[in-house]
Amino acid sequence: MLKKKERYNVAVMGATGAVGSVFLSILEERDFPINEIRLLASDRSAGKKLNFRGRQYPVTVLDKDSFKGIDIVLASAGASRSIEFLPHAVRSGAVCVDNSSAFRMEPTVPLVVPEVNPEAAKAHQGIIANPNCSTIQMVLPLMALNRHSRLKRIVVSTFQSVSGAGQQNILELETQAGELSKTEWSSRIGSHNVKPDMVSKFAYQMAFNLIPQIDVFLENNYTKEEMKMVYETRKIMGIPDLRLTATCVRVPVYFAHSECVNIEMEKKITREEAIEILRAFPGITVMDDPLKKEYPMPLMVEGKDNVFVGRIREDDSIANGLNMWVVADNLRKGAALNAVQIAELLIR
Ligand SMILES: NC(=O)c1ccc[n+]([C@@H]2O[C@H](COP(=O)([O-])OP(=O)(O)OC[C@H]3O[C@@H](n4cnc5c(N)ncnc54)[C@H](OP(=O)(O)O)[C@@H]3O)[C@@H](O)[C@H]2O)c1
Repeated sequence: MLKKKERYNVAVMGATGAVGSVFLSILEERDFPINEIRLLASDRSAGKKLNFRGRQYPVTVLDKDSFKGIDIVLASAGASRSIEFLPHAVRSGAVCVDNSSAFRMEPTVPLVVPEVNPEAAKAHQGIIANPNCSTIQMVLPLMALNRHSRLKRIVVSTFQSVSGAGQQNILELETQAGELSKTEWSSRIGSHNVKPDMVSKFAYQMAFNLIPQIDVFLENNYTKEEMKMVYETRKIMGIPDLRLTATCVRVPVYFAHSECVNIEMEKKITREEAIEILRAFPGITVMDDPLKKEYPMPLMVEGKDNVFVGRIREDDSIANGLNMWVVADNLRKGAALNAVQIAELLIR
């Protein structure tokens, strides 16, 4: 359990990464009560300095002794590092909020989205898991609507930005797009292909392409990312038999994930009722005016905290169906912001 203090000693594990750097901005923006901040990364980053609240802090190499005197660990250094190091952090008295997938489905580890199931955090035994980015943004509107009418089935297709796969993948898209911008446009097929040696992080060229595979394939022919959406949504919403099917696609967008969500409910809900319910839910911004061409898009949502919902309309192919388009910044609400909100629950 975290002892109440005026200010806390906080370690950011993976501080140099895509999520880690957003952690630092969010801790600053939200004026999180910090006494000492410890920035941890791999030996590749030894000697680097990062800016926090106007001062330069050294990055130190993560090891099992990194957590002495630390109250809260915000972890985003990948699942294997979480498995190896978070038990040491817990033993030395810290409470950990973990962004990786390492502990999400452990029965004793709460999986928390503060607007949806904040009370779950209380049962932690030292580790609280932050859900997958694509799951977090979907469960806010799902929970809002489920309070009106029980959800029967969800069909979701995601359009996930490259930053969801980390810093190196952002750079790979940037390099490919830069290379292709040098070549003159032509209608010849193949003129927008990069050289094979420019493809290393993604399975295929990412620029001007869509890749319908995020993470590895499982025996049931779904990807791990798709099944994370199923299992994590059930756990967060507390509906173990919720029917959900997902298709996850990586798209050549730098920041913010978009999702096309189709839901079937027990009771009918009109577009107007859905808009009212979603507007009243914390953390959601409804952006939906077809006459003014108003709907959320990644470029509009990057850098923002809320989950944006638009294109809300009844699905007239089934009895009680609704379609919506859900966009959120994966590095903020999908990762660092959600984790800092969990830490805020702990110190409240
Ligand atoms: N990106 C997202 O939208 C998102 C959303 C939800 C959850 N997550 C999860 O957050 C974690 C980090 O993702 P990311 O996108 O920030 O990745 P990233 O940009 O690749 O950053 C990885 C971070 O982990 C550190 N790291 C890697 N290997 C290490 C080691 N052996 N020892 C210590 N530190 C090590 C890296 O340090 P160096 O710089 O020194 O290599 C870097 O700070 C992953 O578990 C990911 O699944 C990401």
